[in-house]
Amino acid sequence: MTEVLAAREAAPPFASHQAVATAFASQVIHWQQSHGRNSLPWQNTQDPYRVWLSEIMLQQTQVSSVLEYFPRFLARFPDVQSLAAASLDDVLALWSGLGYYSRARNLYRCAQQVMEVHGGRFPPTAELLQTLPGIGRSTAAAIASFCYGERAAILDANVKRVLTRVLGFDADLAVAANERALWDQATALLPAQAGLHTMPRYTQGLMDLGATVCMPRQPTCLLCPVQPVCTAQREGAPEKYPVKTRKLKRSTESWWLLWAQDAAGRVWLQRRPDAGVWAGLYCLPVFESRDALAATTGAAELEDLPVFLHVLTHKDLYLHPVQLQLPSGTRPGLEGDWVEAARWPEVGLPAPIRKLLSAA
Ligand code: ADE
Repeated sequence: MTEVLAAREAAPPFASHQAVATAFASQVIHWQQSHGRNSLPWQNTQDPYRVWLSEIMLQQTQVSSVLEYFPRFLARFPDVQSLAAASLDDVLALWSGLGYYSRARNLYRCAQQVMEVHGGRFPPTAELLQTLPGIGRSTAAAIASFCYGERAAILDANVKRVLTRVLGFDADLAVAANERALWDQATALLPAQAGLHTMPRYTQGLMDLGATVCMPRQPTCLLCPVQPVCTAQREGAPEKYPVKTRKLKRSTESWWLLWAQDAAGRVWLQRRPDAGVWAGLYCLPVFESRDALAATTGAAELEDLPVFLHVLTHKDLYLHPVQLQLPSGTRPGLEGDWVEAARWPEVGLPAPIRKLLSAA
């Protein structure tokens, strides 16, 4: 702690931008080496397939969940060739439970483009990687930095927080021009030298700082390697950054789920439409109202189970399961098929549906 305070006092109050940039990059790199995450299964490799897969899985998803899914996915699809040759249903089934299924559809399309357009090799620059489905500017930069040592800036939500605080960048990130300005600043802060000795550690260091030190609330500034050059810390209010005014518009919906079961314990599942919530996954038939469900089944022996809430990014979904026992050999007169419990893991079920069915 004494060292940290001493370093802060020693920092010149009006350091030149270049001096701040140099100090910033080297502090991040040194800190990552001793305090960052260095043994995650997608690290210590320059294989773009593994790095790409992990970066897509890590978008909007906790490391702890990805630790579970990443090895399973790799065991089934060890390379981009095997993924491109799979069926979309198989890919969605392996993705099931991770959420944000457009990622899985883009992953599959991306693998096919790598095969068809790039001869089975991921392109070697961030600029070209960005042309592939599901790879945005920050993900492209992460892959290029980790695999090729390219001097490319990342700017995901965690890194936006770190950089806006360090820079005291208080312009509203809901405005595109401000976001562009932050990209420029992120680029100006990159280590001077490209290469595999600097860039992977710097990139990972920023991610690790955002995830473990520079948290949204109660950041642990005393443990932060860039505290001596951090504007927000000097101002004493790091939590006011980043500034973003536009809030997500949330909506609420209620869905009635027909949970039809036959005497053998099989459940009637149907494929969700190709667009919208849980697109392309297998699910219990969904109805907009209890009346619509009852009218379609025409059954009197419906049993209402407790309602539960499932929170999506833009929507709160209130799910109302309604159970119906049917004799063997009958079909509920809806699109879909009977699926036995042993096959639920292999068809892509949304996480809340999987949990509901397996709790029975
Ligand atoms: N989030 C996004 N990319 C990551 C990575 N490479 N390691 C840990 N968390 C991440």
